This record gives sequence, C-alpha cells and structure tokens, in this order.
Amino acid sequence: MIEQTKIAVVTGSNRGLGYAIAKKLGQIQGIQVVLTSRNEAEGRMAQEKLAHEGVNTNYHSLDINSDQSVQAFAEWLKQTYCKIDILVNNAGINPTAQIEESSLLTVQLETMLSTFTTNVLAVARISQALIPLMKAQNYGRIVNVSTEMASFSTLSDDDYPLAPSYRLSKIGLNGLTAILAKELQGSNILVNTYSPGWLQTDMGGVNAPFTAEEGAETAVYLATLPDGSVQGQFFAEMRKFGGAIQLNW
Ligand SMILES: NC(=O)c1ccc[n+]([C@@H]2O[C@H](COP(=O)([O-])OP(=O)(O)OC[C@H]3O[C@@H](n4cnc5c(N)ncnc54)[C@H](OP(=O)(O)O)[C@@H]3O)[C@@H](O)[C@H]2O)c1
Repeated sequence: MIEQTKIAVVTGSNRGLGYAIAKKLGQIQGIQVVLTSRNEAEGRMAQEKLAHEGVNTNYHSLDINSDQSVQAFAEWLKQTYCKIDILVNNAGINPTAQIEESSLLTVQLETMLSTFTTNVLAVARISQALIPLMKAQNYGRIVNVSTEMASFSTLSDDDYPLAPSYRLSKIGLNGLTAILAKELQGSNILVNTYSPGWLQTDMGGVNAPFTAEEGAETAVYLATLPDGSVQGQFFAEMRKFGGAIQLNW
C-alpha cells in the first residue's frame, strides 16, 4: 500500500516551541508541515529560515482567536489537501510575568479571561473547525501543549510560581483534552496533552534549562503515535524520564 503524505499543522509556529516542532516534524519523511502564524510576515520569515535549514513547509496565516481566520484556514486546508492528519495546538500566551499574577487576590480578571480565551477557547474553536476533516478519513493525531504546572499535584508545590491565569488556563486545556478524547473514543483520532518542560523561548526566558528542540521531542512522539495507542492522557516531557510517561492530572 502506498503511504500518503501526512499533513501536519502547528499553531504559532513562527517562533519558539512551535517553530521547533514544525522543524522536527518536517524532517520526518512523509510529513508535510503547514507552518502557521497570526502575523504573516513573521510566518513567512520563519518559513524561509526553515527552508535554509533544509525543511520545506507550506504556509498559511492563522489567528486562533479569530473565527474568520480559523474558518478561512479550514477552507484552505480542504481545497489544498482535502485533509489534515496532525494538529499541534502549540500557540499560547502566558502573563505570569505580570506582578498581579503572583496572587489570586490581585490577578486581573480581564487577564484571566484573555489567557483562557487563547489557551482554551481557541483550541475548542480550531477543534470544531478541523476535526471534521479528521473524522472524514478516520485518522488524526492531536497534541495539546500544556505544562506540568497544570498538574494538580504541583499546585501546592513551592517550586512553581502561583501564576493563576496561566495555570487555570492549562488546567482547562487538559480538561478539554480529556473531554475530547472521550468524545473521540473508538475512532482513530488520538488526542493527548503534554508538558514540554521549561524552555529557552521568548516565553520561557534565557534561564530555562532546555532548548525548544528538546521540548519538541514529546510533541513529535505524540503526533506520530501508531494506531491503537493511548489517548486522552497527560504526558511528561520524555527527555526527563527517558521515555513516555504520564503525569498526574
Ligand atoms: N517556554 C516554556 O518554558 C513553556 C513551558 C511549558 C509550556 N509551554 C507552552 O508551549 C507553547 C509555546 O510556548 P513558547 O515558549 O514557544 O512561547 P512563545 O515563544 O511566547 O511563542 C508563542 C507562540 O504562540 C503564538 N500565538 C499566541 N497567540 C496566538 C494567536 N491568537 N494565534 C496564533 N498564534 C498565537 C505566538 O505568535 P506571535 O509571535 O504572533 O506572538 C507565538 O508563535 C505555549 O502553549 C506555552 O504555554 C511553554
């Protein structure tokens, strides 16, 4: 049987972890990556940079917070490929550096809402737009990028900042993953969430111990799971444990 090229979409892949995931997926034979960004010029620059690194991608703009942008993207995917095989929901925001985020008593509710809007609602929006294309071929791998700070087992841990907006949003993303997995049970669409670890990106800062490339490893593992694999689980970064292990919710 001739294996068809798999189409992989990575949200927010103009920089940081998304760029590293796009690069690693694009290096796998048989995967065509669609690089996406909300700012077209920045996305095109990233696409060019990847081409210089030997990875050819296709590009389309995608602002996950915009109904119009997501619908236009879904339509383009349909017209161009008639399918999507892999979706990495990487795009996210993190307002933890704001001073108000050090206390639930001072956190700005508007910030909480905007963080939830990007990190959770936008993933629901893109799921609604793209999963029908996966259902049509009964194949899909969905990877949601979370954080170990969203594990309930870390909430009382002194090692982490309180970060109420960010952590509650990623707890929401984990919940969305579990609900979606339940709904997709019995299909060959596998949805999982994972923590990439603390990474040297604009979000993670220069003091982070790991590179974006290291953080991308587990995303690639989950994006290329064989049929019949686990779904609806929360994974730790593989590097830390020498293999795929599940985190406590
Ligand atoms: N870095 C870490 O230590 C760390 C740890 C755990 C989890 N994570 C998670 O990993 C993911 C990537 O983080 P990162 O470190 O690479 O962050 P980053 O360097 O700040 O990059 C975030 C990416 O998300 C995009 N984005 C934000 N809002 C968007 C929207 N509405 N539509 C489309 N794209 C949007 C950004 O686009 P623009 O360039 O246009 O802003 C950018 O490409 C996030 O979900 C984050 O929560 C990161």
